[in-house]
Amino acid sequence: MFSIAVVLNVLVVGAWALEARQSPNATADQTSLTLAASQVQSALASTGIGPNITSDPGTVASLTSTNNFINWCETQNAPITNGKQQAGCNPTIMGMMIAFNKLPSAKFQYPKNLDTLPASQPFTIQVAINNLQTGNFVNAQTNFFAAPSQVNSDGIQIGHSHIVIESVESLTSTSATDPTKFILFQALNNPANGNNILSVNVTHGLSPGVYRAGTVNTASNHQPILASVAQHGLINDVIYFTVTQNGKPNGAGRSLVHPSVSSSLALVTSILALSAAQLLL
Ligand SMILES: *[C@@H]1O[C@H](CO)[C@@H](O)[C@H](O)[C@H]1NC(C)=O
Ligand SMILES: *[C@@H]1O[C@H](CO)[C@@H](O)[C@H](O)[C@H]1NC(C)=O
Ligand SMILES: *[C@@H]1O[C@H](CO)[C@@H](O)[C@H](O)[C@H]1NC(C)=O
Repeated sequence: MFSIAVVLNVLVVGAWALEARQSPNATADQTSLTLAASQVQSALASTGIGPNITSDPGTVASLTSTNNFINWCETQNAPITNGKQQAGCNPTIMGMMIAFNKLPSAKFQYPKNLDTLPASQPFTIQVAINNLQTGNFVNAQTNFFAAPSQVNSDGIQIGHSHIVIESVESLTSTSATDPTKFILFQALNNPANGNNILSVNVTHGLSPGVYRAGTVNTASNHQPILASVAQHGLINDVIYFTVTQNGKPNGAGRSLVHPSVSSSLALVTSILALSAAQLLL
């Protein structure tokens, strides 16, 4: 015979089982080919423009989706990137966006902005890094931009940094640069030291010229850092520096006279020489 307690127990267990079935099962959903109902971003159904929506003048309509664009790449006449470094369409989700007060940042320690270095001498680039759990990088040939951005338990981006050095015409040049041309691109794969400094050796130094160096802070799968708010300071640092034969700023140790001044001096000298020659006649 059933007691009322057993009946209640059956009802409670039955309700729990129903609840469990209806709740998202994060483990099972990781291999499901169906978007879980809990993951639908309903705001994506709107273009962001309309009579009841505040938007800046000139705002363009967003693409819309009721399924998080999961099959959007099918509409593009392009291959899916599939972990390779190739132009195409990437269906992988973006993942964790970084809290405003935990955004990574960087500052060159060496060289410093506007430094002058001697040519062909090995040197060590040092960068102070903040809010990046460094030393984490996946295979860039097989898993490029191929997993979501992740954070650690403190909400800090997990990833790594890089250094890129480009040649520029001068410290004051105004030409837009060509990103296909660079002198050095080096991943900073080792974790930062105890003082949060990342280092890379430029083993043969650089030839004389003017250079721009920048940090490239990324998530583990090499994608850029996703800031959770639009307005923020730079997540990377950029410096400009000069390399000369003797490591002294241009002009130092040679003529300190501006070329136009020295040609005027030459003119004065030749006039004086001419006058002296006339005196001798
Ligand atoms: C969630 O899914 C996993 C994998 O399919 C399964 O082993 C587990 O029992 C499920 N959990 C619940 C509460 O349904
Ligand atoms: C805009 O808001 C008004 C007032 O709430 C409402 O009556 C109207 O249907 C809305 N229009 C649209 C396009 O949502
Ligand atoms: C740079 O070179 C020095 C001297 O050879 C070495 O001790 C150091 O570990 C190198 N640093 C890096 C980041 O490779």
